[in-house]
Amino acid sequence: MVAHYVMSVDQGTTSTRCILFDRGGRLVSVSQREHKQYFPKPGWVEHDAAEIWRNLEHLAPEALHRVGVEPRQVAALGITNQRETTVLWDRNTGHPVSRAIVWQDTRTDALVAEFTQRPDAGIVQELSGLPLATYFSAPRIRWLLDHTPGLYEQAERGDVLFGTIESWLIWNLTGGPDGGEHITDVTNASRTQLMDIRTLQWSPELLAFFGVPAAMLPRIRSSAEIYGRAERAVPGVRIAAALGDQQAALFGQTCFSPGEAKCTYGTGSFLLLNTGDTPIRSRHGLLTTVAYRVGTEPAVYALEGSIAVTGSLVQWFRDSLGLITTAPEIETLARTVEDNGGCYIVPAFSGLYAPHWRSEARGVIVGLTSYITKGHLARAVLEATGWQTREVVDAMNADSGLALSTLKVDGGMTADNLLMQFVADVLAAPVVRPMVAETVSLGAAYAAGLAVGYWPDLEGLRRNWHRAALWNPSMEPEHRDSEYANWRRAVERTFGWLQ
Ligand code: G3P
Repeated sequence: MVAHYVMSVDQGTTSTRCILFDRGGRLVSVSQREHKQYFPKPGWVEHDAAEIWRNLEHLAPEALHRVGVEPRQVAALGITNQRETTVLWDRNTGHPVSRAIVWQDTRTDALVAEFTQRPDAGIVQELSGLPLATYFSAPRIRWLLDHTPGLYEQAERGDVLFGTIESWLIWNLTGGPDGGEHITDVTNASRTQLMDIRTLQWSPELLAFFGVPAAMLPRIRSSAEIYGRAERAVPGVRIAAALGDQQAALFGQTCFSPGEAKCTYGTGSFLLLNTGDTPIRSRHGLLTTVAYRVGTEPAVYALEGSIAVTGSLVQWFRDSLGLITTAPEIETLARTVEDNGGCYIVPAFSGLYAPHWRSEARGVIVGLTSYITKGHLARAVLEATGWQTREVVDAMNADSGLALSTLKVDGGMTADNLLMQFVADVLAAPVVRPMVAETVSLGAAYAAGLAVGYWPDLEGLRRNWHRAALWNPSMEPEHRDSEYANWRRAVERTFGWLQ
């Protein structure tokens, strides 16, 4: 029977989704389930990797059943995932040795501070393209090896394996009784801080620096090739792509040419600029990362501005402050006032990421007077996302020497018109959103479909991109400049809070 669909699995920070796409890149079926967030101590964030796998095992068949599709009608499956989150599991039992440590977790801050003091610390950014920070996987692996008796020796023997989430899912999907394929893709590997960004191989120097045994690491493969067939969840379906979720969004937005950029507004927000086939070293606080590699083609690189807290600030406003009951209400509340009333919120909950990379920063609310209402706070919450985007775009323009002409956006927060207008205003550039807002999932589906010939080439994919919304800038330049100056003064207040 002819294969009609491609399936994508998006394993994100808060939920897992399976989506079936047809050849036009249209969404045919969706299944979704949230997983539990564990916050055992301040700054700690954990997931149960076994729960995440069980969710996928349930969701993949569910997405098929909903529309009466058989696994043999699925041409390929692509995986995309929250990046940097670290899973260690026992090769023999297949069980995780602890909860997964999530990308937002800051427990390694003391360890990172120690690494930073070492005389050879410069090799880390030089080889990996990433600054030393709690964000990446390598310090987490080291932390787990240091805190579990006997684990280091097991890892040295290859009895304990490391993987980011796609690696864990591929191991389980392709796993027979002896376990499955232990592989990762080059985009996810580029976020571990253990891969040499030029050779695209594990770096012996970085492994030595972080004290991570090579035997526990997966093999690095391209982002689009057939890795194997599923034994479980969707038996027989070819697993043909894996990309970190932000790289997948770049792919789904069809930013295939150097100079094209997208920003995905989710829990955090991540702006990626395609820089072509050579890695560009940032001088302004951005990350050098792999955007994608299709089969044996040369890898394509990106500069990335990662913002840790955007959508999760709205969640905090809803769940911890209780000022709204659903996330979309923030727009209604913000529209009850004309402006921010002089109030600014800098959500440095996990330190500040790009372009500052200050692990010790902590959040502030400044400009409080008795005039301030919850409406002003709602504005300040939304504006924080706009200004953080502006900081990243400034860094990108400075690194590339070019001014960003248009920003493609996607992700849940792009439903907020007030926010998207504010982003266009503070960037002084148009902002556009495509018809298919599920660009993360679409990117993984595109990569898998390319690998098996379901879609012929990148040009064909570009033709599937259609604009659904456009926001043009309309803010007065003087107003923009004075507000930005206030924002920057607020950011200064977050530094040095933790000693
Ligand atoms: O680097 C972290 C990023 O991949 C998480 O994305 O959408 O799961 O919050 P998301």
